[in-house]
Amino acid sequence: MTDDIHRARELLDHATAVAVLTGAGISAESGIPTFRDALTGLWANFRPEDLATPEAFEANPKLVWDWYAWRRGAVANALPNAGHRALVAIERQCREHQVDFTLITQNVDGLHWAAGSLRVVELHGNIRRVKCFDQGHAVDRWEAGEQVPTCPQCGSLLRPDVVWFGEALPSDALAAAFAAARTCDLFFCVGTSTVVEPAASLPFLALESGARVIELNSAATPLTPHATVSLRGTAAQLLPALALQGQ
Ligand code: OAD
Repeated sequence: MTDDIHRARELLDHATAVAVLTGAGISAESGIPTFRDALTGLWANFRPEDLATPEAFEANPKLVWDWYAWRRGAVANALPNAGHRALVAIERQCREHQVDFTLITQNVDGLHWAAGSLRVVELHGNIRRVKCFDQGHAVDRWEAGEQVPTCPQCGSLLRPDVVWFGEALPSDALAAAFAAARTCDLFFCVGTSTVVEPAASLPFLALESGARVIELNSAATPLTPHATVSLRGTAAQLLPALALQGQ
């Protein structure tokens, strides 16, 4: 493993444009459950795929609102971990050497911002923001209560400003992510199962465009056999080791 980290660091030292895609695995060590972990407690009988859709919200808005309120609570209490912080260090190292650096995340927890990353492309929105279901009006404040709160402008129900299954991703974020994958020469794929499109295509697009791809994950994924280097372990262990080797 030390050899693999060394090899990954060598690739980083010779890169001219770096893109990083993160998924729920990077926030696992901050105490935020990943999507493909079995849900526990109150939510043990549900699958995220059955809650994170517009249809689920229309059928049972209270259930979906409460699930996100629970996730929002987990996020509010979470702190960035050593993995998030190492990506801040790697971004700084890249900037110091005039290397392009793009951080793309599928996470909605805002922990990359909290760690100090300067630029984050958020593909799936941010759970800290809320908007209304009908018109997408942004809403800053609402009263927590028995009912799902409503929009002060149009009266429609409020929902988290995250992308649900079946919804389009924000077009500017999507364009930035695809451009970075197409033009980078080194792509890191960190803590994502690489099964949810379109994000799952990004490392493959990078490979097709001639980039090296380094995967950091605690388990194998569909990307693993294709990765140039596959680092097996947790993001909070592997990323600091990678960042330190550059100092
Ligand atoms: P998943 O829950 O699908 O996958 C988490 C990945 O992280 C798995 O491959 C784990 O092996 C890995 N993992 C777990 N703990 C780790 C750790 N400490 N360090 C490194 N790796 C670890 O999460 P995502 O791939 O992010 O979309 O899921 C993608 C999308 O599916 C989410 O953004 C969400 C979800 O449904 C929407 O809600 C639209």
